[in-house]
Amino acid sequence: MICLTLMESSIDENLRVLSNNRTYIDMVEIRLDMLSDPMTVLPDTVKSKFNIPAIITFRKKVDGGNYEGSEDQRRSVLYAWARAGFDYIDLEMETSFLEIEKLVNKNGTKIIRSYHDFTGVPDNLEDIIRKLSSRPGEIAKAAVSPGSSSEALKLFEVFDKVIDIKDKIILGMGVFGLPSRILYKKLGSMLSYCSNRDKLGAPGQISPSEMKNLYRVDKINIYTSVYGIIGNPVMHSKSPELHNMAFQRAQIDAVYIPFKVDDLGSFYVLADLLGINGFSVTVPHKVNVLDILGEKSPELNTVLSCNTVVRKGSVWKGFNTDTDGFLKPLLSLVDESKLNNCAVIGAGGAARAVISALKSIGKEVSIFNRSESRAAKLALDTACSYYPITRLDLLGKFDLIVQTTTVGMIPKDNETPLPGYQFRKDQVVYDIIYTPLKTKFLREAELAGSVVLGGMDMLVTQGQKQFELFTNQPFPSEEQKENS
Ligand code: ATR
Repeated sequence: MICLTLMESSIDENLRVLSNNRTYIDMVEIRLDMLSDPMTVLPDTVKSKFNIPAIITFRKKVDGGNYEGSEDQRRSVLYAWARAGFDYIDLEMETSFLEIEKLVNKNGTKIIRSYHDFTGVPDNLEDIIRKLSSRPGEIAKAAVSPGSSSEALKLFEVFDKVIDIKDKIILGMGVFGLPSRILYKKLGSMLSYCSNRDKLGAPGQISPSEMKNLYRVDKINIYTSVYGIIGNPVMHSKSPELHNMAFQRAQIDAVYIPFKVDDLGSFYVLADLLGINGFSVTVPHKVNVLDILGEKSPELNTVLSCNTVVRKGSVWKGFNTDTDGFLKPLLSLVDESKLNNCAVIGAGGAARAVISALKSIGKEVSIFNRSESRAAKLALDTACSYYPITRLDLLGKFDLIVQTTTVGMIPKDNETPLPGYQFRKDQVVYDIIYTPLKTKFLREAELAGSVVLGGMDMLVTQGQKQFELFTNQPFPSEEQKENS
C-alpha cells in the first residue's frame, strides 16, 4: 500500500492534498501534531470526509514530531480518534496508553508500534523490531536514517533477519534509504510512506505520483528484477525516468532505482543481497568501479571509465555506452567526412569518453583544458595534442568543437568555458551538458550560425544502449508505449 503522509496545518488543507493525490495512493497518515489546533478537531465528523484507510499519528517533538503539550492531552486526543474507528493508530515503542490499547482490541483499529532513529541505523535494529512486534496484533514500524552506504547495507541486512515477522514496516529515511521505500513490497513491508510534493522535506522522499507512476512500487514483487544507478550525488539523474518508462513499455517486470553510494564495497554486498541485475554508474564511481569487473568490453581498455555494469553469471561485466551515445546523434546530424579536425574542451572522464569515440572513427583530436597537467596526461594516453583553454585563436581551424566541462550547467548556466570566442558558421558545436538543454556555449554558437547539438540526445542514446545491455532486448519504441 502507498501511504500519503498528510502534514498540513488544517483538516481542510489535508483533504485538498488528499484529493490531489487520491489516484496514486491507497491510504493516508494524518499527522495530528502538524495541525495548528489538533484539540479542537472532532474526529467523528472528520472520519467520513477522508473515506480512505488512515493511520492516526500524534508525534511528540522528542520523537521527531511537532507536539509539545502534555501526555494526558495527547492520550485523550488519540483516544477520541481511536474511538471514531480510524484504521490504525501509531504509538511509539515506549508509549503506554492502556485505555487506547484496550479500546482498539474491541473496535478493530490496529496499533502501529513505532520506533524512529533520525541519526543513523542502530546496531540492535533486529532486536528493536522484534520488541516492536512482541505484542499480539500490533504492526512493528522502524524508521531509521542511514547516512552512508554501509549504514544502508546494515538496514537491508535486517530485512532478511526479520523475514519471519509478518506485520511490519521498515524503512530508511533520506537518500541512502530511498531504495527501501521503493522496494518495500519485495522486502516484506506492509506499506511505504510518501509526502505531498510541496512538503517534501528531506531529500530521498518521493512524491505520490513518482511512487505510483515512475517506480510503480505497488507492482514490485519478489520476482521483480532490480536495476539502478549508483552515484554521489544521484538524485538529479534522469536515468530512472528513461529506464522505468522503457521497462513499462516493454512490459518487463523490473524497476530501476537511484542508489546514493559513498562506498563501493558496501554497495557490491548490497547488490548481491538485493540480487541487482545491472546498474548504471555516474560520477564519482566511473573509474573505481573498474576494480570489481570480472569481464570488460573492449572499449573499456581505452576509455578507462565504465558507466554500465551487468551481472553475467557469477561476475560483473562492464561497458561504456557514453562513446556510442556521443557518436550516434553526431553522425546522424552531420556527414562524418566533413569532420576532419576535432577540438575537445576539457580533460576529465567525459572528455576521455568523447576522445575515445572520435578516435574510434579515425579522427584527429586536440584537447583544450584549464589545467595543463590533466590535459597533458590525457593527451599522452590518447595520442592527442593539447592547448590551454585560453587559446581561442587556435579554435577557428576546427570543424567540430565538443564541450565536456561542467561549465554552463545549471545553476551556473550563464557561464561558458570559452568567453569571447566567436564561432564560425560552418563549425559543428556539441555540448554534452543536458541541463540546460541549450547552454550559453551552444546559444552563442547558434547565433553565429554553427550547427549545434546538446547533450540530451547523447544521454538518451547511452541510456538506450544500457537498456539493451541490461535486458538483451531492443529499446522499446513509442508505439509500444501506446500499446502497453
Ligand atoms: P567529468 O568526469 O564530468 O569529465 P571531471 O573529471 O571532474 O568531470 O572533469 C571536469 C572538467 O571540467 C575538467 O576538464 C575541468 O578542468 P580542469 O582539468 O582544469 O579541472 C573542467 N572544468 C571544471 N570547471 C571549470 C572551469 N570553471 N573552467 C574551465 N574548466 C573547468
